[in-house]
Amino acid sequence: MDLDQRQQATGRDRSFSPRGLVAMNEPDEILTPRRAYIKRNGTPAALNRRLIVMSNRAPIRIVREGREERLEPTVGGVGTTFLRLLECNGGLWIAWSGGQKTPAPKLMPPGEPRFKIVFAPLSEQDISDYYHGMCNRGLWPLMHFMTPKCHFSTQQWSRYVRVNQAFARIACEEVAARDVLWVQDFHLALVPHLVRQQCRELPIGIFWHVPFPPEQLMRILPWREEFLHGMLGADVVGFHTQSYATHFLNCCHNILHLDVSHERGEVILGSRRVRAAPFPLGIPADFFSSLAASPRVAGRAQRIRRSLGTPVMVLGVDRLDYTKGILERLLGFERFLEQNPSWHRRVTLVLIAVPSRTKVTDYANLKRELDELVGHVVGRFSSDGWVPLRYLYTQFGAEELVAYYRAADVALLTPLRDGMNLVAKEFVASRVRDDGVLILSEFAGAAEELSEALLVNPYNADEIAERLREAVEMAPAEQSLRMRTMRNKVEANNLERWSESFLAELAEEGEFAQGSPEAVRV
Ligand code: UDP
Ligand code: G6P
Repeated sequence: MDLDQRQQATGRDRSFSPRGLVAMNEPDEILTPRRAYIKRNGTPAALNRRLIVMSNRAPIRIVREGREERLEPTVGGVGTTFLRLLECNGGLWIAWSGGQKTPAPKLMPPGEPRFKIVFAPLSEQDISDYYHGMCNRGLWPLMHFMTPKCHFSTQQWSRYVRVNQAFARIACEEVAARDVLWVQDFHLALVPHLVRQQCRELPIGIFWHVPFPPEQLMRILPWREEFLHGMLGADVVGFHTQSYATHFLNCCHNILHLDVSHERGEVILGSRRVRAAPFPLGIPADFFSSLAASPRVAGRAQRIRRSLGTPVMVLGVDRLDYTKGILERLLGFERFLEQNPSWHRRVTLVLIAVPSRTKVTDYANLKRELDELVGHVVGRFSSDGWVPLRYLYTQFGAEELVAYYRAADVALLTPLRDGMNLVAKEFVASRVRDDGVLILSEFAGAAEELSEALLVNPYNADEIAERLREAVEMAPAEQSLRMRTMRNKVEANNLERWSESFLAELAEEGEFAQGSPEAVRV
């Protein structure tokens, strides 16, 4: 069953409302990202330029049923982040549709348009060589430091170059005076350089949503020079953490032999300076907390808890990806149950695994291994009506997801390597009563900011078991102190602050004006 079939089969609430990712009949107390921002901060500071965002994955997929057309949000940090941002600020988004058909440009959200999506055409061969091949089997494991999984081929690299050229061409056709181009992620590393050749004066930024590997690992990429030069077409290269920015600067120095300044976070290219610096990605915290506080979500959270029948619920949420440490999490949970029989019948682990990249062998294999391990743990510990584990292989909309965030006592997030991990921040923002415990891998970018979480090495099953025991036994006062501190951080460095600080770096001084333009140029 592929993703689309699975989504139809599960029939979960994910259709796209005119106001974004919340359900169509949302009550007024649930704030959309824009309403939440305005309520708290007034009208956002607007960039006096039109924002063009470019990413491989579009924020929506178009599902056709007969003559009817339905829009569904896609899953992943880039899609959810910029969907919320462009809903607030307007602009243009260039992205792949997710299939072989190239739909006409779409005004979004339907009925209340704030921005336009222009789709980049990808042929079947492009999808196979560029997306499944170069991006998912080559660059993805390389960026996550998992070099044994890397597979490189010249044919796939040639397609990567061609697809980057196609995206760059669309940007050059669409761009007008006083625009700014913000490219997203490792799929489009060559675009900044390709666009720079045509549009010398255009402010170009690229944000790296995944980790950036140390120089010694980056060296294995056969086209490393071209790749790094591609990124250096930008004026600003943003990373989630200082260590990723440092790795990039080291690569520019040691592989490209360029002058760099670690103090100023700069690469010097003759008369040009490229800024390479950390901009830790934030979330629309108000959106999550207002959703979590709504009576409808609170009611749904209660029903979820009742259906489990145990006093404690532990939650894991990820795309089904080998970087997320889902097997390791299960092994840690198994160790916890082995070592703590007194917790049998009192705890349930809920695993939400979103189908992802199902055509790539490593992902299909992971799915099989996970199914097997889930069966093993369930078979080994279940007794008299108690099932220690619920496994949901599906994708939820924001409202249902937040109900799970609110229902849980503990979030157990154990990526082996992760750029940021937005789920960790969303869980924190949804804990409107300042209770609950976050157990977070020390290898997630979010661990740098969320230091009050119980940090864990996901490769160490004993440590996961130990953190779990600490979490389920933690006194309410300590939970509250830790959670409040983390919530303050997530609220302070929210999505709007993040985008403003990146764009302020990119745009010239004085280009931010108070108040959003009434007519949004799309
Ligand atoms: N997400 C979702 N539905 C789900 C599970 C996750 O919409 O059922 C969203 C989640 O809210 C988050 C994103 O997917 O914004 C995942 O981002 P994260 O940075 O945690 O991981 P990524 O998938 O980008 O590697
Ligand atoms: C990560 C990447 C994103 C990507 C997302 C979902 O978050 O950083 O660029 O869109 O995973 O993966 P997919 O391959 O489905 O776009």
